[in-house]
Formats: sequence, structure tokens, C-alpha cells
Amino acid sequence: MTAGHLRRVQETAGQWLAPESDPTHRLPAGGIGTMAVMAESILVTGGAGYIGSHVVRQLVERGERVVVLDNLSTGYRSAVLGAPLVVGDTGDAQAVSRVLAEHNVGTVMHFAAHTIVPESVSKPLKYYGNNTCATRNLLECCDRAGVKHFVFSSTAAVYGIPAEGLAREESPTAPINPYGLSKLMSEWMLRDLAAASALRYVALRYFNVAGSDPGGRLGHTAPTATLLVKVACQHAAGVRPALQIFGTDYPTPDGTGVRDYIHVEDLASAHLRALDYLRNGGSSTTLNCGYGHGYSVREVLRMVERVSGKPLVIEESPRRAGDPPSLVAHAERIRAALGWSPRFDDLETIVRTQLEWEYRLQREPSLQRN
Ligand code: UD1
Repeated sequence: MTAGHLRRVQETAGQWLAPESDPTHRLPAGGIGTMAVMAESILVTGGAGYIGSHVVRQLVERGERVVVLDNLSTGYRSAVLGAPLVVGDTGDAQAVSRVLAEHNVGTVMHFAAHTIVPESVSKPLKYYGNNTCATRNLLECCDRAGVKHFVFSSTAAVYGIPAEGLAREESPTAPINPYGLSKLMSEWMLRDLAAASALRYVALRYFNVAGSDPGGRLGHTAPTATLLVKVACQHAAGVRPALQIFGTDYPTPDGTGVRDYIHVEDLASAHLRALDYLRNGGSSTTLNCGYGHGYSVREVLRMVERVSGKPLVIEESPRRAGDPPSLVAHAERIRAALGWSPRFDDLETIVRTQLEWEYRLQREPSLQRN
């Protein structure tokens, strides 16, 4: 325990006292002496970003103690609701170790990453550096600090092009872009570290995340986003003059790419379930996060037209580098393992909440400034 750590515990002893019923509390490494017991925190890396911020809000609402580490490269201060924000990088060992110690972190949820598939094709080292190397650093810090639980943001991109477009957790992993590979390597590091230590983890393989907090407090804020639902809603809201369909000659029913779109609020709740699972002694596991059915690009765009009441200006363009034709989750294992059941499995709700957030961003441009 560092001197700063000790001072902080003493100064804020009342605040840090964990209730007897809190199953997460543990003693500071140096023993308690006359000090109060400091409650354990959950470190959320990337907690100022799109998905991380929704998870932080749900954790805080549930009464969890949370600290966010985010370098604000694509995240926003305004997105961190109810938790302290430390501005820093997961690749910075000193910064990470300090946060782990000062906040008595018992669980890490690791969202911080670059996530844009075509960009990973043109800038692979950016992805291996920020996703794979920074994750290795984070894991090393966690190992040193005795972090017990790790929830990892993995991706359906680890499957590459699965047979019939349907990916099971045991399907072969064969990424077709550096993004998927950068995340798969992190899964391997996590698996090997867990085998060699007391760390237990849940790796969640996200399918296509979309939508916004139904309460209107949060959403996908970055203006340069590339995600289909976001881009289409930006266009419907007047932010973009047109949008493109990347590829109309795929071997899919209407020739456009098929994806399993999952509402961000459901994805966030899966993280809280994963945390409970680990606290209850669950063994390390890897789970798909999707609904188990897909929509084509054209189907998504039709829904955006219906919900917004506006015809979209659509350009048909060639395929985009790194895109598989179809990617849909086999989504049974997560329900059985975590007892998770989605509440927003409805394309209309996904599009409506996304659109409402785009309208809010237009009314409040300050949300897009740090
Ligand atoms: C998204 C995630 C990726 C995850 C993957 C899982 C991000 C930035 N990307 O990638 O991390 O691994 O889901 O499946 O979080 N499309 C268009 N026009 C557009 C944008 C997209 O036609 O303007 C098409 C794409 O070609 C694709 C589909 O829409 O067929 C979905 O693309 P997109 O929303 O960009 O997500 P993914 O590339 O699947």
C-alpha cells in the first residue's frame, strides 16, 4: 500500500466503509490495523465510451463502486455518470497500477479499444498496439495487484466467416481483419493468465451493438462513428447528406450484409450478470452476446425510414474491406450461463432510441465536446 493510498483511506474512511452485507469488500493489502475497511471497486476501462458508459450507469444505479479509466480518444466526460473518471491509458502501467491500488479494484471490465473494422485493415499496428499490447499491459498490472475478476469486451469478429453465417462459441476462430485478430489474441492472453493464476474471467463476444439508453441520458456520441445504425440515424437527423450500402452482391437474401443487432442496454446488463456470475464462483468462460437473429442492411435502412418518417438518400457502393457477408450469434449459452434475458430485442426500439439520441446531440452540441 502506498503512502498516498493510506492517506486516502484514512481521510475518507467513512466513505470507504463497506456494509457487512457487501460480498465484495476485502481488506487492504497491508492489513487494517485501526483503519476502516475499504470497499472494492470495479475498474471500467473505456467507461467514457459508447458501451462502457452504459455499463457504468447500470453499475452505479445498482450501488456498485466504480472508477473509470479512459484516455478520451473517443470517449466523453459527459458520458461518465456517477463515477470518478481518471484520464489515462490502459497501456500506461504506472497509471493503471495507481488506479488499481488507490481504488482497491477487485474486478476489471475492459472496454477501451479501437473497434472500427475497415480502419483496422488500413492501420493494423494501431489495432495491435491499442488492443493487444495495451491489454497485455493491463493484464500484467491486474496480475500484480491481485485482481480477481475480469470481464472482457471481445467481438464476433473473432469468428471471421462462420459456416452459414451462424457463430457458436465453439465455432472455429478465424478472423478476417486485424481488429478481430487483435481481440482474439487478448482472449488467448486472458485464458492463459487465468490458467496460471487465480484470475477468473468472462469474455463477451459482442455482435452488432446499437441503440441508446431508453432514458435518453446516454448514447453513441462520437460524430465520426461508422456503425450502420448510427450512420443511418445521423443521416435521418440531417447530420450526413447521404449514406452508403457497402456491398449489394453478398450471398445473402437481398445481397446486403446481415448482422445480429443487439441493443446497448441489453449488452450492458449482460456485463452485470457476468459480474454476478464471477462473484458467485463461476468458472472462466466465453459467451456470445447477440439475439440469435439477423437483419440485412436494407432491412435496417427501411426501419430507419419508417421510424424517422423520412426517405433516406442511399448510394450503393462496393464491398468494404474486412466485412463478412453474414454474422449472427448462436445465443443460447449466455442465457443458460448468466441467466441473462434481453429486454430490447426489437429493431424498432433499437432505431428509435438511436434516433432520439441523434436529435439530442443536435439540440446539445456541447455533448460532443470534452
Ligand atoms: C461491428 C463492430 C465491430 C464488431 C462487429 C461484430 C464497431 C465500430 N464495429 O462491426 O467491432 O466486431 O460489429 O459483428 O463497433 N454498412 C453499410 N453502410 C454503412 C455502415 C455499414 O452498408 O455506412 C454495412 C456493413 O458493410 C455491414 C453492416 O452494415 O454489412 C454492419 O456494419 P457496421 O455497423 O459498420 O458494423 P460491423 O462492421 O459489423
